[in-house]
Amino acid sequence: MYDHDLLIVGAGLAGLRCAVEAQRMGLKVAVITKVHPVRSHSNAAQGGINAPLTDRGDDWKGHALDTIKGSDYLADQDAVEIMSQEAGEAVLELERMGVIFSRGEDGKLGTRRFGGQKVARTFFVGAITGSALLHVLYEQSLKLGLQVYEEWFVTSLINEEGVIKGVVALDLKTGELEAITAKAVVIAAGGAGRVFEPSTNALICTGDGLSLAWNNGAGLMDMEMIQYHPTTLARTGILMSEAARGEGAYLFNSEGDRFMEKYAPDYMELASRDVVSRAEQTEINEGRGIDGNVLLDLRHLGKDFIESRLGYLQEVSVEFLGIDMAEKPVPIRPGMHYIMGGIKTDVNGETGVPGLYAAGECANVSVHGANRLGANSLLDTVVFGRRSATKASEYVKTVKDSRISTSEHVEKDLNRIKKILNNKGRFRTSEIRNTMATAMTEGIGVFRDQKSMEYAKKIVEESKIKFRDSLVVENKGKVYNTDLLFALELGYMIDCAESIVHGALTRKESRGAHFRTDIKDRNDKEWLKHTLIYRDRSGELKIETPDVTITQWKPVERVY
Ligand code: FUM
Repeated sequence: MYDHDLLIVGAGLAGLRCAVEAQRMGLKVAVITKVHPVRSHSNAAQGGINAPLTDRGDDWKGHALDTIKGSDYLADQDAVEIMSQEAGEAVLELERMGVIFSRGEDGKLGTRRFGGQKVARTFFVGAITGSALLHVLYEQSLKLGLQVYEEWFVTSLINEEGVIKGVVALDLKTGELEAITAKAVVIAAGGAGRVFEPSTNALICTGDGLSLAWNNGAGLMDMEMIQYHPTTLARTGILMSEAARGEGAYLFNSEGDRFMEKYAPDYMELASRDVVSRAEQTEINEGRGIDGNVLLDLRHLGKDFIESRLGYLQEVSVEFLGIDMAEKPVPIRPGMHYIMGGIKTDVNGETGVPGLYAAGECANVSVHGANRLGANSLLDTVVFGRRSATKASEYVKTVKDSRISTSEHVEKDLNRIKKILNNKGRFRTSEIRNTMATAMTEGIGVFRDQKSMEYAKKIVEESKIKFRDSLVVENKGKVYNTDLLFALELGYMIDCAESIVHGALTRKESRGAHFRTDIKDRNDKEWLKHTLIYRDRSGELKIETPDVTITQWKPVERVY
């Protein structure tokens, strides 16, 4: 039997930052991940990480206020205060660990300005910031002796009378199911982007952690808050980093107008993501797009600048569309990018379920509210990854022995898998997944209304029934059975989709990324509230609407 003090599900930035901290505190730590750690989706984060460094006259209150405004006042302000106050040290610590951040002419750490922010406070490594951070944290955690269950897939949490004591997981290489016990479990398994099609997210972002927590008593909060990134490459949906606009790129419509002048004259292309995405979609819907896209123009920045600061974007543009960005504008459109909602936690990663913690994109602390600012996600992972390690370590010290009898738990998952493999259905995983994910984009899009959301709900309900009764998994083998893996992932995705449509239908206002064309106004009087959804063992949903925590910034009208 495998046994640890702390088991972390997911080896992206939140998971590895958590691991480093817990190891420093002397815990026996393991991470379990369905891919190699440096292939985690954090690897794809391009543009940077925010921090209000005081040596350049910035201060935490400025960052906090921008974050809160960006969130359309849905973020809990006590949580944002902590994130902003700890940001500087978190970034400098990454540099001390070995991250080679890009620097300015003066030799100081360089910054670029990201959307929704009054000043430039985004620190970066070219356009590969997530990858650089991930490799350094992986090295650091290995140096401290981290055990890695690599290419293992968690099929359930071990829950004994409401207390989490480990996981049951499938070793993808052998097809064997094993129990891995731990005094505490941290879920840091990333987002659920692939519940939508298309998405900037890696194919692995299937909401596994959200579903595992939800099915064990944790709440999912503000799941309707889905971020559409303003610049994803035409035809492919690949992320074209906000760094392009941060470095000065323009957006044009088919008539050659820099249309952001109309929507956000003060911030222009660097308004908040929800605002820019809506502006683009309006241009496209009103006939001023080009084949469903608008244009991102970097020509005035010059080839040398583009290649030195935004080399990765240039590579993507040339490889996929054959466009040299120094010569021609590149067609882009809004694309699903991030989920602001997630497992409800406090500022220490506690979920309310004993032994279970969460951090990173799968968690909702809540610092992003209804719209996340670019480059606040990497910050969230390292600040709250570290804090969840500290709190979980305190808990671990109170648990005497984590070794328990696990055969019953393994047997249960084995039977579930046998049932899936023996099902004589007619729908392949890909059919159910694509139908559902396409309907989610149609129904819970940049713009949505009652009818579109009801449509998404109907398709999710149908997908749930097809998944239960009529799924077919053709590969019955054990070694790297990705057919089975994708089927198990689909189960997690359906849970996420269900919570998203219910959250969306509950919120009777427009706020941030949740823009209803049938109720266009923000309604602070009735809806300065979160949506919080629980599911009990019988599958019944319970929806609560707790108040948002306001500390010092009273909600005012938000334009950008
Ligand atoms: O545009 C980007 O580089 C994405 C950054 C983020 O989502 O924070």
